[in-house]
Amino acid sequence: MRSATATAHPNIALIKYWGKRDAALNLPAVPSLSITLDGFRTETTVRWGAPADLVQIDGRRVEGKEAARVLAFLDRIDPARPPVEVLSQNNFPAAAGLASSASAFAALALAATAAAGLQPDRQALSVLARQGSGSAARSLWGGWVVWDRGERPDGLDSHAWPLAPADHWDLRLVVAVVSGSRKPVGSTEGMIRTQQTSPLFPAFVAAAPERLRLAIQAVQDRDLAALGEQMERSTYEMHATMISAWPPVRYWQEGTVACLRTVEELRAQGVGAWSTMDAGPNVKVLCEAAQAEGVAERLREHAARVEVLRIGGEPRVE
Ligand code: DP6
Repeated sequence: MRSATATAHPNIALIKYWGKRDAALNLPAVPSLSITLDGFRTETTVRWGAPADLVQIDGRRVEGKEAARVLAFLDRIDPARPPVEVLSQNNFPAAAGLASSASAFAALALAATAAAGLQPDRQALSVLARQGSGSAARSLWGGWVVWDRGERPDGLDSHAWPLAPADHWDLRLVVAVVSGSRKPVGSTEGMIRTQQTSPLFPAFVAAAPERLRLAIQAVQDRDLAALGEQMERSTYEMHATMISAWPPVRYWQEGTVACLRTVEELRAQGVGAWSTMDAGPNVKVLCEAAQAEGVAERLREHAARVEVLRIGGEPRVE
């Protein structure tokens, strides 16, 4: 039996991934850009050659669909694999309002390949992690990360790459947790429904390359107003196509709108803060480090919990 432990951090997309050009290989309809978060992490230990398959997350044995998704991922690494134990621990509560699938599959890709005695490079690990959950492709690096849509049918050109390290630009992401309860529609199901039924989906896809180009330029120039605009536009374009799906994929709650309005008010008062949202009701706000506490204070009026997070988070194998 061989064992390996890896840690990886969640990431938040600034230019959004929503929709798949190939569902079986999990290839995205659009390219995306994210920041990896420091502090919060998933730590995963894999024992390759155990008495029986076992998947444990946060101290609880998981079964059914959740375990099947992890075991299918291990089968991709080696279809003739021995029984494997996966023990995974998140240091952030589910109620923190952050998706854990990105850090989970990035940590699993690292730990499982190391335990299997393989030494893939990070690009190959990104291709592998993508097949567990798309956003996981981006958690193989810290800092600012781009995930290419790629053109190849086999998906080998659809992996992430590091645009800039964490210390390139000292921003903060303020996370306003409007609700910590489980989302009614998961992102995979939501995406597929959106692309099958929303007449706005092609417009979201068509706008994405230009959003990404302008956002990359803004990161290189450290131009927060330019980046903030592209991030908010990508977010609203994604939510417009979700809401126009049938039945609608609508994650917004009353508190969501209150937070979005607060950020607009802050901006009118001269505070450089811009919002983004994912497949849930929580609002994430990008701003300068010096203004993060003031932004958080205002959001506390509408959110049950507010966290100020730094950019960082290189993954590693212990
Ligand atoms: C809204 O990566 O969770 O957070 O590939 O189906 O597992 P699957 O989806 P997932 O979707 C993330 C969607 C998003 C935007 C983003 O992270 O880019």
